[in-house]
Amino acid sequence: MLIKTAKFVISATDYKKCPKSQLPEYAFIGRSNVGKSSLINMLTNHSHLAKTSGKPGKTITINHFLINENWYLVDLPGYGYAKASKTRKIEIAGIIEQYLQLRENLACVFVLIDIRHEALFNDLQFMEWLGEQEIPFVIIFTKADKLSANQVAAAVEKYKIAMLETWETMPQHFVTSAETKLGKEDVLNFIGETNTSLKK
Ligand code: GTP
Ligand code: MG
Repeated sequence: MLIKTAKFVISATDYKKCPKSQLPEYAFIGRSNVGKSSLINMLTNHSHLAKTSGKPGKTITINHFLINENWYLVDLPGYGYAKASKTRKIEIAGIIEQYLQLRENLACVFVLIDIRHEALFNDLQFMEWLGEQEIPFVIIFTKADKLSANQVAAAVEKYKIAMLETWETMPQHFVTSAETKLGKEDVLNFIGETNTSLKK
């Protein structure tokens, strides 16, 4: 799929302030610093559409980007940012949870996982929760440029083993790098196909 236009629409502090829309949207979620904002920029060919930072906790609002006037990408705050206060963490978790449960045009959640990390309890727990809520999601491994191709394959295999402890099959997944643009076509094609299937 070709990205013709990508526009920032609004930063919302909760789901009620998100744009009223029937257009399908795809939300990026994962731990702080996993590369959510960078991946949005990579997919849309913009270097600064979504704000990125070496410091975790940069994104603290629900940010909508309108793509091709036809669908949205949504940058969510990271979860598990250790340095945020406990109150702030609970507040952010509440914002995310409400958004995910109540946003009617949410087509799919992209759960981002740093390819270099072992399967972490709160990521696994989060995906279980998505499953229970029947919220569709796919896994996107990020920062593949930090490993060799063999290491990437081994890391995905290891993650699969951890997932199969609770899941019958490994959910659909993509390997990406915001640096090398690896996985760009795969993710965009997935969005294109999902958009088409939603129109039927
Ligand atoms: P929060 O908004 O804080 O939750 O973070 P985020 O998940 O949006 O991460 P962000 O995109 O801001 O990236 C965090 C850091 O990781 C930045 O320093 C990025 O340059 C770096 N980064 C993100 N993606 C990649 C990647 O694919 N490869 C490499 N090498 N670095 C990456
Ligand atoms: Mg961010």
